[in-house]
Amino acid sequence: MRLIPTAMIIKRIFQILLSLSLIFPFLSCENLQSNKEKKTVMADRKWWKEAVVYQIYPRSFKDSNGDGIGDLKGIISKLDYIKSLGIDVVWLNPIFTSPNDDNGYDISDYRGIMKEFGTMDDFDLMLKGMHERGIKLVLDLVANHSSDEHEWFKQSRSSRSNPYRNYYYWWPEEKGKPAQRYSFFDVNSDAWKYDATTKSYYLHYFSVKQPDLNWENKAVRDEIFKMMCFWFDKGIDGFRMDVIPFISKDTTFPELPAKYNGNFGEYYANGPHTHEFLREMDSEVLSKYDVMSVAEGAGVTINEAMDFVDPDRKELNMLYHFDGVSLGYLPGEYKAPDPKGYSLVDFKTIYSRWDSVFAQKGWGTIYLGNHDQPRMVTRWGNDSPEYRELSSKMLTTFLLTMHATPYYYFGDELAMSNIKFDNIDDYRDIETLNMYKQVKSKNGDLKKLLENQKISGRDNGRTPFQWDSTANAGFTTGNPWLKINPNFKTVNVAAQENDPNSVLNYFRKLVKLRKIELTLVYGKYTLLDKNNPDIYAYTRELEGKKILILLNFKAKNTSVAIGDIDLSKAKLILSNYNEESSTPMNLRPYEAKIFELE
Ligand code: NOJ
Repeated sequence: MRLIPTAMIIKRIFQILLSLSLIFPFLSCENLQSNKEKKTVMADRKWWKEAVVYQIYPRSFKDSNGDGIGDLKGIISKLDYIKSLGIDVVWLNPIFTSPNDDNGYDISDYRGIMKEFGTMDDFDLMLKGMHERGIKLVLDLVANHSSDEHEWFKQSRSSRSNPYRNYYYWWPEEKGKPAQRYSFFDVNSDAWKYDATTKSYYLHYFSVKQPDLNWENKAVRDEIFKMMCFWFDKGIDGFRMDVIPFISKDTTFPELPAKYNGNFGEYYANGPHTHEFLREMDSEVLSKYDVMSVAEGAGVTINEAMDFVDPDRKELNMLYHFDGVSLGYLPGEYKAPDPKGYSLVDFKTIYSRWDSVFAQKGWGTIYLGNHDQPRMVTRWGNDSPEYRELSSKMLTTFLLTMHATPYYYFGDELAMSNIKFDNIDDYRDIETLNMYKQVKSKNGDLKKLLENQKISGRDNGRTPFQWDSTANAGFTTGNPWLKINPNFKTVNVAAQENDPNSVLNYFRKLVKLRKIELTLVYGKYTLLDKNNPDIYAYTRELEGKKILILLNFKAKNTSVAIGDIDLSKAKLILSNYNEESSTPMNLRPYEAKIFELE
């Protein structure tokens, strides 16, 4: 005879009571409301909501053959390290064949592996190794544009009557100069490039070597969809979609409406058929696999985000916004950081607003660093020797306790910081090099530009990973493609691996906590002490369980007001200081504390 444990009986009674309360709404409207919330939140569990995504910039992770460039075999050799982090998903920046004008975001063969990175056999081994370790793999889908060295473009530019002509956007010279379009990576910021062979201009929102693909042409969409299936059939688990909101264009190319002047990204993200194309992608590809999709939400405003990720619309799963990472830059200049820093109140407002968008449906993402951003600790924390570790742990606490899927950038688990090059010759990134040429051509302030780039330049986040204190940080036996941060002697995996208090082990603890505590994944987020200029405080709540998170974003002792929350029985689950503070509401510089409340 099977015995029914007491817990099961209690659970059954609870379920009956719950269904009664649904049948008899007069029992309590308040209860009914919260039951409804619970149902929607927990009924819709998904692996990608519970995942911690770890982003690897393959060029800089681990070089296996001494050419100074990270590669797939290098990743394979470090799979056990990746596994040891406890993360669930790896997102790899583009690994496809590319002339590397924009480090792989200019693809010349969507089904080939970049030769510096290895071969398809290496890829298959890497994927197998990840899956054997329970790690999923997400690749980058760069489909707004290809490389100008892609066979499609070579054909397209060869003659006006070539069958591939309409794979790209062409504007014949006899129609005069097309209306202005802004290019992010063009010396003249001009997105139209004249091509003498066919006496026409082609469109490139990014560099001249990144012509935009014409998604209005069904043949192009089919090529992209088939290519996606190719990778899904190989077994990958999802795509991060590069500037996907830009895929649809008004092909009459009218003058830019005045409201978008200076805000081209928003115009680009508001093409006439974007959502139609995404729904088609879902029905023809995504819906056929158990995979995740995340849009790089360039140009997407908070009011438009739900249209991309509302599950009822059947488009994408997640989108990452730019409101957070854009905070604290001065408008009208090249990513110039405000010397006053950023306002924590504004920071809290942004993340709270974005949380509210997805409070009932859809799902959010959270990140503070990636390959387009400077290092998290330099930009949002404090990279001085005194506070680098503490502030980095505090920021990691933020990322892993918010109501969204965290995208964690490789190297942040070591508190790697900006390299801050003094010399333009040290930079490799097309964005910085381009800005430099532009400022130079206008006789602008190059010194100021270089100072600003020390904070905002993308290469700061791309320097090679720091494995140990040997030559070249154990990244390569050759000449690294980008200089290694001289702090590698102390900031590296080997130095942190066995130190229980290291930044690395703190990250591991937090990942573990998020895995076992679903309140941190699905729990309702409530901001506390909203106008406190130093502390970010919030609770996460699910099914009667409440967790309080207190984060001091400043290099000083300060306190927080948490209203009527009773801390007398609160249990400290994790903190970035070793000794507990005297009063829970006082926080030391960059202190982070997580409490379980009764
Ligand atoms: C966004 C990518 O993240 C960035 O690295 C790239 O330069 C542009 N898209 C163009 O593909």
